[in-house]
Amino acid sequence: MPHANILEHDEADQWFVDSIDLRSFVATAKEIRDRTIDNPALTLSELEPYFKALLTKQDWLPENFAQPNPNSSMGGGIGQWLLYRAQDRSLTIFSLVIPPGSTTPVHDHLAWGLIGLYKGQLEETRYRRVDNGDTQESAVLELVEVQQQKRGDVYRLLPPDGDIHAVKAITIFAPSVSIHVMGNDIGSILRNKYNPEQKSVQSFRSGYSNIPHKK
Ligand SMILES: [Fe+2]
Repeated sequence: MPHANILEHDEADQWFVDSIDLRSFVATAKEIRDRTIDNPALTLSELEPYFKALLTKQDWLPENFAQPNPNSSMGGGIGQWLLYRAQDRSLTIFSLVIPPGSTTPVHDHLAWGLIGLYKGQLEETRYRRVDNGDTQESAVLELVEVQQQKRGDVYRLLPPDGDIHAVKAITIFAPSVSIHVMGNDIGSILRNKYNPEQKSVQSFRSGYSNIPHKK
């Protein structure tokens, strides 16, 4: 498995990719996040232009972080490669690699986030939860919108209403690669996946393709 090794413990943060552009973006993200800690919507809007600038640079993501993962815990060969994790787990950046035609489960994130298309095209189907969560393993979702994303596009995650979606690669030959900036340690936490047709919900831990999975 590639990149199980951490490149560097820099002030106890974990870096899996060595890139000046990524380091510069993380420094900016921390500064903005700390200044807007009480207003996640503002965090997203202030951070977005810097994220878009990072996405326009096509030379900082090593090719082995843009590969599918046949042993994916998400299914469908979907790779989730951790690129950076803050020491306090309050900021992570990972690449999500979806093979042509594959779709993620419908899932939530439980933190603010920015997702940007680095390569390929995606179709995002976004939902809102409309039940009150009183019935165990049951959830009623309402379809909010379906939108297509192309390279350089960015979309925002903001719980509770802007937090549930499924993502499908609509490229034909090559995987779609998106970069995720999250205000939590998304691969390690317990979160939820949904089946909208069956009105069911199940907790899960998505893990990262380059980190040993904790049960
Ligand atoms: Fe997601």
